[in-house]
Amino acid sequence: MHERLDLLSPEVRANPYPYYAELRRSAPVCQVDPGGMWAVSRHDDVAFVLRNAELFSSQGVRASLSAPWLEHNPIADSMVGMDPPLHTRNRALVARAFSTRVVPRMEALMRRVAREFVDALTPGRELDFCAELAIAMPSAVIATLLGLDPSLRSRFRHWADDVVVIRSASTPERIESIKTTVSDLDRYLREVLAARRVAPQDDVVTDLLAAEPGGAALTESEIVSFLHLLLIAGLETTTHLLSNGLRLLMERPALEERLRRDLSLVPAFVEEVLRFEAPTPAAGRVTLHEVTLGGVTLPRGAPIAALMGSATRDETRYPDPDVFDIDRPRQLLLAFGNGPHACLGAPVVRAEGRIAFEAILSLPGRFERVDRPLDWIASMLVRGPRELWVRYVT
Ligand code: HEM
Repeated sequence: MHERLDLLSPEVRANPYPYYAELRRSAPVCQVDPGGMWAVSRHDDVAFVLRNAELFSSQGVRASLSAPWLEHNPIADSMVGMDPPLHTRNRALVARAFSTRVVPRMEALMRRVAREFVDALTPGRELDFCAELAIAMPSAVIATLLGLDPSLRSRFRHWADDVVVIRSASTPERIESIKTTVSDLDRYLREVLAARRVAPQDDVVTDLLAAEPGGAALTESEIVSFLHLLLIAGLETTTHLLSNGLRLLMERPALEERLRRDLSLVPAFVEEVLRFEAPTPAAGRVTLHEVTLGGVTLPRGAPIAALMGSATRDETRYPDPDVFDIDRPRQLLLAFGNGPHACLGAPVVRAEGRIAFEAILSLPGRFERVDRPLDWIASMLVRGPRELWVRYVT
């Protein structure tokens, strides 16, 4: 590959996988656009980058969420952009609140949202699956996790959309919209914290406020940054898992039949969707020292894009990587990252995927695509279509 690849060009966004394959084959560590980042495409190199925070700093994530015109973006200050030892301390305190208790607290809510979706279906109806389930379910979960008023849920998509395009925002209108989003969100979240201080509840926000017996606790700014992070980390990513999952299912009637006959296979289906269309295709890092990777020596300060979306299609790890196969043996899945920053929400996502697809596969009818082109979101941080129009047929 001689020309510099633009990861955000329309062709690459529509189907990045042949381009990733070419990178893995002929230029496993090379500069790409936007911005001349060094794309790392082979599975083991991606894992190496993600695991070695002392060589590859998460300041790269911070940079991807900052812009000169945005005075302060709390997400950029959140743990996803921190390095050890600050990250280690923040993660330990957050993980305590965000542990095994989250999924059981949320399952009934996920089922209720799936039921509302199913109940609104009528034969022949056309609908945007993203809006009606793929956004609705994670929005309900995140609103509850953040303690936000459910009436604000309709704004979540807009907020999350704004935050993932900070680096590519170019029009004055979009920049204004992003600034308003960040300040609105900050205000709402600080109100939630103030309310929980006065009246604690059985929820994650209250747990985050609780001090450790030894006196360690998160500061108000750390909590607000973490809550901002949850909105972006937990919303769009899950939306794309669900919408990519339905699209892949509609294209595979035999698989759909098999899953309908045996719902215990749904978790394996969800796992394969995560591999096949990694909802978070890249993670940003910056080299802290000169380092040689994939035969290329990178200087200190080099911006890196660790391509999880390519790693999960690496032929050395997954035979026939472009075949969608739910019977693949389970193994380490880089779609959730790896190492110190590995996704804290993975159990939540797996539960959402399972509950959503169990509901879809238990319907008397099925979905078929409505013939409209897909508009892939222009972001390195998430991969999925803006809308997915389908018809429910019985
Ligand atoms: C399909 C859905 C999801 C995918 C593919 C995904 C993927 C990822 C990845 C790749 C990272 C690592 C980023 C890096 O190393 O720079 C990450 C971090 C994180 N994710 Fe997720 N995520 C998903 C959903 C969620 C949900 C639902 C939540 C919370 C409710 C969540 C919370 C987090 C948090 C807090 C981090 C930061 C961890 C840290 O910095 O230590 N994610 N996620």
